[in-house]
Amino acid sequence: MTDTTTERAQVATAPTAPTAQPIGGTDTRLAALNAAGRALLFSDARTSNTFDSTPLSDAQLQEIWELARWAPTASNTQPLRLLYVRTREGRERLVAHMVDGNKDKTRSAPAVAVLARDTRFYDHLPTVMPIRPGMRDQFVGDPQRADVTGTYNAALQAGYFLLAVRAVGLAAGPMAGFDTAGVDAEFFPDGRFASTLVVNIGHPGPGAWFPRLPRLAHQDVLAWA
Ligand SMILES: Cc1cc2nc3c(=O)[nH]c(=O)nc-3n(C[C@H](O)[C@H](O)[C@H](O)COP(=O)(O)O)c2cc1C
Repeated sequence: MTDTTTERAQVATAPTAPTAQPIGGTDTRLAALNAAGRALLFSDARTSNTFDSTPLSDAQLQEIWELARWAPTASNTQPLRLLYVRTREGRERLVAHMVDGNKDKTRSAPAVAVLARDTRFYDHLPTVMPIRPGMRDQFVGDPQRADVTGTYNAALQAGYFLLAVRAVGLAAGPMAGFDTAGVDAEFFPDGRFASTLVVNIGHPGPGAWFPRLPRLAHQDVLAWA
């Protein structure tokens, strides 16, 4: 077994489900992240536009999903699918479908994730939502509801994915600027998966940050009732 294969096996066999939350009492696992953790995930985190050449291991990339997969989706639908592109050949196939302003950064990232929505996510419901045996058939019989649910929850999971990239100490560069039909034909030719977002992943390189753009003020967003 190669080192990479060993790492992959270790992640695959790592404890999967967190232990059950105790009912009542004080659960120390619900303690807040410290200031450094909050800054890593949110306030200091930036969108990286260049990357250095430090390679990423299979284990690092798998660890991202090992975190993101626990975050919630409606009815536990989990519609997001993930393709990691790392080879020179795979990258060129992807770069061809990126808008011009996204081509160089996609070439420079040590790994690129293509996030896609499984249009038949409901086929997994008998396994992931066994307490609602009729739910799969409801989605099959209502394609519009299936599309809305899949699109909404895949977008949620894309956000979770970005936070998970940051949580493992890497920088993310999300990009919606690409030809989705072209990427789908290139990587998902059977038509089941629909690409939603491409994310460069790695360590920031020189000139990685664009100027920080302002965020809406609390009074523009928050209301109280
Ligand atoms: C869904 C999504 C799509 C984006 N698409 C692109 C893109 O195609 N090209 C690009 O250069 N940046 C893209 N960005 C990056 C945003 O412009 C950037 O995250 C935002 O300006 C905030 O920057 P900051 O995280 O450095 O503060 C995208 C971000 C998100 C979340």
